[in-house]
Amino acid sequence: MNQGRMIVIDGSNGAGKTTVIGALRDHLEYQRREALFTREPGGTPIGEKIRKILLSTDAGEMAPVTELMLFAAARAQHVREKIIPALQAGKVVVCDRFDSATLSFQHYARGLPLELITTLNDLAVDGLQPDLTIVLDLDPEVGLARVGERGNNLDRLEKETLDFLHKAREGYLAQARLNPERFVVIDASQPLDNVLCEVLQVVDHLMQQ
Ligand SMILES: Nc1ncnc2c1ncn2[C@@H]1O[C@H](COP(=O)(O)OP(=O)(O)OP(=O)(O)O)[C@@H](O)[C@H]1O
Ligand SMILES: [Mg+2]
Repeated sequence: MNQGRMIVIDGSNGAGKTTVIGALRDHLEYQRREALFTREPGGTPIGEKIRKILLSTDAGEMAPVTELMLFAAARAQHVREKIIPALQAGKVVVCDRFDSATLSFQHYARGLPLELITTLNDLAVDGLQPDLTIVLDLDPEVGLARVGERGNNLDRLEKETLDFLHKAREGYLAQARLNPERFVVIDASQPLDNVLCEVLQVVDHLMQQ
């Protein structure tokens, strides 16, 4: 039976996650691999409702611990309803953001205690750990300019201060340094073709293991 694999694409806002995932979809289709493409927060009907609450800008201030629990609640549903069944069916799961984002934003940037995040995340993921987390590393100012050019209104998290976004970026790099066996950092300031080429290389390498 095919072994399921979980790949997370993460990194600063506007770093190119959605663009890279589109290319990865074509690549895996070409290789005739069965895959599930999904995202956090979201990925399930309940998760998408939680996503709306998390990203909306019209509901007033959100306490950091409320935010943490909403992310964890969405992830708990996502893991059980979608991700674990897909992995058990031997699929490749490609997820736009996952627990690496919670650690970067809620711990490294927001300052919530690591133990609190780890406890809640352990409950949410039920023992699951991505095989590979690709961090698209980009200066948040460049990322925000890219998002601006895309023409959407900024969501609640994109409206955070630059200092917050810089801390989150450092959080991704710190996680990658601490877990080099399951994190790969790719310089997302490169031309898109180079970024895609590096992403496909590390994904193919994982598939051959
Ligand atoms: N390497 C690159 N060089 C220049 N522009 C890029 C590159 N990668 C992506 N872009 C462009 O930057 C914009 C943001 O890309 P994309 O939406 O894929 O980022 P994202 O990480 O998914 O953003 P978000 O955090 O908002 O979900 C898009 O207009 C995309 O075409
Ligand atoms: Mg995106």
